[in-house]
Amino acid sequence: MRVDVVTLFPELFDTFWKTSFVGRARESGTLTARCRSPREFGLGAHRSVDDTPYGGGSGMVMRVDVMVACLESLDGDAPDGLRAHRVLLTPQGAPFDQARALALAAKPALALVCGRYEGFDERIRGQVDEELSLGDFVMTGGEVAAMAVVEATVRLLPGVLGNEASTEEESHSPAHGGLLEYPQYTRPLEFRGEKIPAVLAGGNHAEIARFRRAEAEARTKAKRPDLYERYRVHAQAEADALAAAKAAAKAERKANKS
Ligand SMILES: C[S@@+](CC[C@H](N)C(=O)[O-])C[C@H]1O[C@@H](n2cnc3c(N)ncnc32)[C@H](O)[C@@H]1O
Repeated sequence: MRVDVVTLFPELFDTFWKTSFVGRARESGTLTARCRSPREFGLGAHRSVDDTPYGGGSGMVMRVDVMVACLESLDGDAPDGLRAHRVLLTPQGAPFDQARALALAAKPALALVCGRYEGFDERIRGQVDEELSLGDFVMTGGEVAAMAVVEATVRLLPGVLGNEASTEEESHSPAHGGLLEYPQYTRPLEFRGEKIPAVLAGGNHAEIARFRRAEAEARTKAKRPDLYERYRVHAQAEADALAAAKAAAKAERKANKS
């Protein structure tokens, strides 16, 4: 996958691109990452990237012509020749979540566009494929959001984490029903009088699986009732579909006999 980031502060990514699994993904060639500053396409002696808002108001707005020139240059000189899927990072976008990370992980090339100041000239929205938000709060720039998107997306690429199962058996994973993960323990067996649940040391894998499922359901219900309701509705729909399929098969067998 290629990830390009449009940012006025490429230096923020210097360590990020080299560290942990993102660094390893780059070393192995799974990830190609580049940052480019719109300043390179800025106007006039000061290479301006922003201007005052039409209609008045406080702060400065990032110019659409400069931002799009920067964005297009990244596709223009990408060795893979692909047009990247363009993501605008703003507090007004759709909330970024695991489902969106999975969808982004399927794209061969991504361009993440970070704003600063009062944000972007509205017309940039016609030049991107989607708009994502890190949450219902406002930061001074999109860089932390871009890093979050890279962290959540790149770890889903095949081979990046080593142990594929670890991205399926975790909180928010569709393979895990979207539930929060069950509680995890490691040594010591007892800490300040608190022991680990006995079932986990018992070696009965079926019992452990049942315990973990029940714990995942209970903690999702307690901590995130919104997620639990989605899980419950989905599980009920699946059970109904299975019951309907079984009933249809039974009816067909009966009809074939008579
Ligand atoms: C100060 S914010 C601009 C906010 C804008 N005036 C508004 O009210 O919607 C500057 C930049 O930070 C980034 N940013 C701030 N909060 C964000 C969030 N929750 N998710 C993603 N990006 C965010 C965006 O790139 C945005 O253009």
